[in-house]
Amino acid sequence: MMDSFEKIPVKIFPNVTEGSKLVAQEIAQLIREKAARNEPCVLGMATGNTPVLLYKELVRMHREEGLSFKNVITFNLDEYYPIDKNAYQSYWSFMHRHLFNHIDIDPNNLYIPDGTWPKESIKKHCAAYEQKLVDLGGVDLQLLGIGLNGHIGFNEPGSGQFSKTRLVNLDNTTRIANTYEFENISKVPRLALTMGISNIMQAKRILLMAWGQKASIVARSVEGDVTEQVPASILQQHPDCTFIIDEAASTELTRVKSPWLTGNCDWTPTLIKKAVISVALKLNKSVLSLTVNDYLENGLSDLLVEKGDAYEINLQVFYLLKNIITGWPAGKPNASLPDHPERCDIHPKRCLIFSPHPDDDIISMGGTLMRLHDQGNEVHVAYQTSGNIAVTDEFVTRFIDFAVGFEEMFGIDNQMSRRILEDARNYIANKQKDQQDTAEIRSIKGLIRRCEAKATCRYVGIADANCHFMNLPFYETGTVNKNPMGEVDIQLTMELLKQIKPHQVYCAGDLADPHGTHKVCLEVIFESLRRLKAAGESWITDCWVWLYKGAWQEWDISEIEMAIPMSPDQVMKKRFGIFIHQSQKDMVPFQGADSREFWQRAEDRNGHTAQLYAALGMTQYAAMEAFVRWHY
Ligand code: F6R
Repeated sequence: MMDSFEKIPVKIFPNVTEGSKLVAQEIAQLIREKAARNEPCVLGMATGNTPVLLYKELVRMHREEGLSFKNVITFNLDEYYPIDKNAYQSYWSFMHRHLFNHIDIDPNNLYIPDGTWPKESIKKHCAAYEQKLVDLGGVDLQLLGIGLNGHIGFNEPGSGQFSKTRLVNLDNTTRIANTYEFENISKVPRLALTMGISNIMQAKRILLMAWGQKASIVARSVEGDVTEQVPASILQQHPDCTFIIDEAASTELTRVKSPWLTGNCDWTPTLIKKAVISVALKLNKSVLSLTVNDYLENGLSDLLVEKGDAYEINLQVFYLLKNIITGWPAGKPNASLPDHPERCDIHPKRCLIFSPHPDDDIISMGGTLMRLHDQGNEVHVAYQTSGNIAVTDEFVTRFIDFAVGFEEMFGIDNQMSRRILEDARNYIANKQKDQQDTAEIRSIKGLIRRCEAKATCRYVGIADANCHFMNLPFYETGTVNKNPMGEVDIQLTMELLKQIKPHQVYCAGDLADPHGTHKVCLEVIFESLRRLKAAGESWITDCWVWLYKGAWQEWDISEIEMAIPMSPDQVMKKRFGIFIHQSQKDMVPFQGADSREFWQRAEDRNGHTAQLYAALGMTQYAAMEAFVRWHY
């Protein structure tokens, strides 16, 4: 449905998989229609994280449904410059890895800007690339992703609507965002070749996909003014463009963020809370100070008509917020608190905290972890993956060197450790970019992270026997790209759950993270719990699941169902707990777009949550950790 605020049609899907399937179906239909007419089908291709599941679905359709690409010609949007075609990060490699190697497309029909063109003749090559596209009839269907700054292709902000295929400078934000493909930012090329906005606009049909963290730029592109500062907003002038997005990327659209502004809405308690919080934060007022006029002037007159008195509504929301805040994450023993977010009648509770990487527990819920333990609950931590790719080569050789010295110091035969050190040094010295570590180096990297996790647990007071290192196999590819969830991952998780029979499970609920480790870790837990419930495990009816967010983001304030305050001392204690993860300090491989260290991110985020509650009129705490309950 096209909404009045939206100037481009937008289709929202529950998740990336379903959105990608729809795009794949439209592509397949076009290919087949064209094939039936004996015509070529020209597709404009994008790279990056966004189309990965789409390409996977196209490969599946080719294998299982006989979808042929014999009549398909592809033109890619862009390529880094300069870059060797065979480099792992080149878009040439990307396209072959994800799509071309697995389908029956004619290799002569693949056009990708060439990052090896000499600079002097780039203009000529770009013109020839465009001419070829025109000669072949132009793009029938153009696929696009969108950058956090609104770029399409590599048309960064400032790119005009008449821009052509050319060499461009990459925005620093783009280089930071794409760092995950490289070892660190200094390795990300500064230049790229891209088709221009005018080329993109000539496509007969455009599908722009956006998942996860893109909510704000999607809203600006679809609802904002057309401006070269947000290149994707120029798509408002295309006659046949649709945005395909998932729920996470839809959260800033008016129809989702403030549905009361778009006409009809059903005033559930959740929506009332969301509306009142949004107006209070916008006006910088506490919930209890909102007046009738504030409601009327901010699109909430409907709510007043339906529910009556503004002050009554203020009070209702105030208590909803107040009841969420508790210093007792596992319930307060023997207290009668009917509105408490957790049950108070079961005490002590068995709590199982799933941590995708060996430091997510302390980073994301360290304050809560300490409270759970200090309040007498039986706390277990399950480290789902080894986290072995995020340890530098320097760090691992330093530790092996320590092992050699240690054995020497105590007269232990160190022939073996010397051999391991020498092998590791040789291997690392000759290691190619993106080459997998040897199994030996990977296991030592995993050991380093395991020791850090154990040390953090001891620091918090959790016994070694309650630390569970799961080493889920889906993670063990030795590269940034992980396998999907497998049966062994589920079996290992079910076994642990059956062994502990927890009353509380905590897990990283990063539903918006499209391909990352956290998402798979979460799916594994959900699938395991569903199966155990279906199998009629008796304890499962008493097992509540609480989701925390990983290091990268926080829940929206109106979604939070349990908020755990922290004192300044607890903030410091958590900081020192994070410091124990020394392999993750300063320079971490695959750091991502945020250059702050993990303890800084955690403190900023927890401090910000506390400030939001204070702004709404709650008690001002130093910091807060936040949770949402998952029902199954
Ligand atoms: C890639 C491209 C870019 C990406 C955009 C989003 O060919 O043209 O515009 O679509 O940078 O990147 P991801 O998909 O990695 O979030």
